[in-house]
Amino acid sequence: MMIKKIRYLSLCALLLIVSCSKEETSPGKPFYSPLALTELMNWVLDPAADGVWGAVGWISTSKGEKVIAPRTEEEWDTLRNHAATLMEASNLLMLDNYAKDNKEWMYYANNLSKKAQITLQAIQKRDLDEIFITSSDIDTACEDCHKKYAKFEEKAASSNK
Ligand code: HEC
Repeated sequence: MMIKKIRYLSLCALLLIVSCSKEETSPGKPFYSPLALTELMNWVLDPAADGVWGAVGWISTSKGEKVIAPRTEEEWDTLRNHAATLMEASNLLMLDNYAKDNKEWMYYANNLSKKAQITLQAIQKRDLDEIFITSSDIDTACEDCHKKYAKFEEKAASSNK
């Protein structure tokens, strides 16, 4: 009887914890992401974008043009995963603790996510030309936001003073 009671109590405690944590992460509620913006850029967005940019292309060699493209199912999966990571990580940029404002920042973050999504679709079709074109749109989407908010040139210029 006693054991049953303790079990019952701990079940209640557990339910309380579950319902509390559910409350915190329910849709629409802001949640905290522990990475700093530069960490999110360097550790998540940049490697994911590099994985997309490096996967498809053409290089001219002395023997003619060489195609760079995924060759195995595993390489296609890796490319798809990079594009999906980029698409979702761009959504994170819209969180309160990253967003610099509620207007243009949101547009740039959303635009990047959309470009990554279009690239993801091209990857699923395995259309090399389209992947190449859409992944350069990703590059533009990064640059557009950086020009407005990161101001790398100004920072580099002031650190050279
Ligand atoms: C919505 C805006 C936005 C988008 C989109 C964006 N970035 Fe950034 N990024 C920033 C800002 C702002 C900084 C500067 C952060 C700072 O210095 O505090 C930055 C900095 C960086 C840095 C340098 C971090 C450092 O160590 O100083 C890298 C690398 C980077 N971004 C990569 C990317 C790549 C790759 C993409 C696209 C796939 C991208 N970013 C898209 C806003 C954005």
